[in-house]
Amino acid sequence: MFISGHPDTNYSSVKLTVTAKVRAADDVVALTLARPDGRRLPDWSPGSHVDVVLPSGTTRQYSLCGDRWDAHNYRIAVLHEKEGRGGSAFVHEELTEGMTLALGGPRNNFRLVPSERYLFIAGGIGITPILPMLQQADMLGAEWKLLYLGRSRNSMAFLDELEAYGERVQVLAKAEAGTFRLEEYIGGPATDTKVYVCGPSRLLSAVEQHCREWPPALLRVEHFAAKELGAPVYDAPFDVELARSGLSVTVTPDVSVVDALKAAGIDVLTSCRQGTCGTCEVDVLAGKPDHRDSILDKDDRAAGNCMLPCVSRSCGDRLVLDL
Ligand code: FES
Repeated sequence: MFISGHPDTNYSSVKLTVTAKVRAADDVVALTLARPDGRRLPDWSPGSHVDVVLPSGTTRQYSLCGDRWDAHNYRIAVLHEKEGRGGSAFVHEELTEGMTLALGGPRNNFRLVPSERYLFIAGGIGITPILPMLQQADMLGAEWKLLYLGRSRNSMAFLDELEAYGERVQVLAKAEAGTFRLEEYIGGPATDTKVYVCGPSRLLSAVEQHCREWPPALLRVEHFAAKELGAPVYDAPFDVELARSGLSVTVTPDVSVVDALKAAGIDVLTSCRQGTCGTCEVDVLAGKPDHRDSILDKDDRAAGNCMLPCVSRSCGDRLVLDL
């Protein structure tokens, strides 16, 4: 049995041709992707990512950073991660224009929700989901400003495109940072302002720490890498009941929920398997999930009616899932 995690997910898989590969900054290339037959691509919204299937069969998630109103081209940007698992090395060293890539999605875990004002903060390659948000915020007539942080200007992609936004964009390379204080820049919570942040985990942690007492809906964070987590809340085996199929599966402490389900013949669609992409999201009908993902915000966690079973577990001896 194969189950697509969440009934609302817009999951498709297409083969796309790399129509352009250009340098966007030191160690960053931008790829333009299009259907070989020139047909339209699935719609997407700012904050969406796609799953890129590599020749090894593994997938990597990349934010769409092009023009969302261009129905025929996707753009992604890939940072060469020297200590990575080989995905970005393949894109930088072996992928050429004319080659095809299989893509899943698009999927959006980082939606731009309506607001009168936005404060965007991007660190390094974290600019990619933010870039289309600026265009969207402009279109909606919202006030916004962007703080774009990076190691050096040479390492920061899309500076040329950001120039058009003038003083609303503040670019700060490490060497220029001086006495800059992020906490002062962000300031206190304002009900008419949403803060969106994406970048390295140190930046995300600093912003989350500063905003820890804020009402949850004011801060939205996109994690590229999984957050570090402590031990699970419940360290004994627990039962997962599947409401639609009537099956019950015991999950032991040494396996994930998706792996326990797979061993019982239930395949849940997965991609990152580290709680950062949202592919495996399922609805929870009863029981309390132990949320161990890097996607759900405080409101979602408190509601407890969905979970990412590639990493999340149970706070008690029983969960009922809408599968
Ligand atoms: S597979 Fe990516 S969040 Fe579960």
